[in-house]
Amino acid sequence: MKKTILITGGAGFIGSHVVRLFVQKYPDYLIVNLDKLTYAGNLLNITDIEDSPNYVFEKGDIVDEAYIECLFEKYRFDGIIHLAAESHVDRSISNPNEFIFTNIIGTVNLLNAARKQWKEDFENKLLYFISTDEVYGSLGNEGFFTESTAYSPRSPYSASKASADHLVRAFYHTYKLPVVLSNCSNNYGSYQFPEKLIPLAIHNIKNMKAVPVYGKGENIRDWLYVVDHAKAIDLIFHKGITGETYNIGGNNEWKNIDLIMLLCKLMDKHLNRKDGTSESLITFVKDRAGHDMRYAIDASKIKTELNWEPSLQFEQGLNLTVEWYLNNEPWLDNVTSGAYQSYYEQQYIKR
Ligand code: NAD
Ligand code: DAU
Repeated sequence: MKKTILITGGAGFIGSHVVRLFVQKYPDYLIVNLDKLTYAGNLLNITDIEDSPNYVFEKGDIVDEAYIECLFEKYRFDGIIHLAAESHVDRSISNPNEFIFTNIIGTVNLLNAARKQWKEDFENKLLYFISTDEVYGSLGNEGFFTESTAYSPRSPYSASKASADHLVRAFYHTYKLPVVLSNCSNNYGSYQFPEKLIPLAIHNIKNMKAVPVYGKGENIRDWLYVVDHAKAIDLIFHKGITGETYNIGGNNEWKNIDLIMLLCKLMDKHLNRKDGTSESLITFVKDRAGHDMRYAIDASKIKTELNWEPSLQFEQGLNLTVEWYLNNEPWLDNVTSGAYQSYYEQQYIKR
């Protein structure tokens, strides 16, 4: 194998797309997927590549320092793509602690382990931290987040990611550890856990349940198809400049209520329902505490320097996403019933 790459959080939504891309595109890399399999980790997301000769799954917790040291000893990684995180803002509001452990302590454990293993020999080594646009805070009607926008995180989730960003940069400046970072906007697509807006709405509409819209639905997010994010991660990992940060976005801002209306129209079409059936399910509910008003990414740096741009128009991507969730009912049923959580025992323990 030419390189051994650690991908953390590879059983999650974005991580599973990154693992699939790397396993298929780089047969001469050994891809080690480390995941704790929290409620958000689902090995059913990657059954298509699980038997590939260049792929290994390791169940483990990035917060467990001794375990991480042993894992680094076992594989001697050349590169790390760190996605594992607690990722849902609402959960961080009701229980912040897990976000501090995984997102901050877990990241420091990986930084320490990489530093210990690579010593001063950093040639062809890289730790890539996947972050979020939420670290920049909340925008008004005007302006965009650039790579030099001052940090202003406003939820326990975004504060934990911002903290990790600072630590990753601190290891670069203090110890010269080779790192790169990217801050991306909201992703959508297949295999997303149905606690997040789009898959939750698809699931509820399909089952004729209320679609909860927080506040007046006026908050704005910039949506990116997850496969495009995975391609950007591949590009940054291989061509990004060490020490740099890249913003990744869809150039695709939507008010939540307008997005939900579009989704309702698509769902009526796909389910052969009378126009307006899905729209009648929209229910305005209590707003999220400290709800950030608008996120919008200026992705000109990655476009100019690495020639990356989103490949899909939003309606195209949303249509593909709706089709995927409707055609993959067993996946959605497994997730909503909790059955997916026994797959690890079936696949890895009993055979
Ligand atoms: P996700 O919640 O779907 O997946 C997270 C994965 O991390 C899960 O498989 C989970 O089991 C694993 N994990 C959690 N705690 C762990 C621990 N202590 N040790 C090992 N594994 C652990 O998240 P996602 O939406 O795929 O996001 C992935 C990364 O991308 C996160 O770092 C997130 O902050 C970032 N991000 C997400 C978005 C988005 O729109 N979803 C946008 C920008 C950045
Ligand atoms: O911007 C990147 C971030 O996007 C990532 O870092 C996070 O990991 C990811 O979860 C996402 O955060 P958001 O809070 O923007 O995503 P979520 O899908 O939870 O919500 C999107 C918008 O929809 C937000 O304004 C809140 C609103 N919402 C959400 C849910 C779940 C609703 O109105 N109703 C809902 O039921």
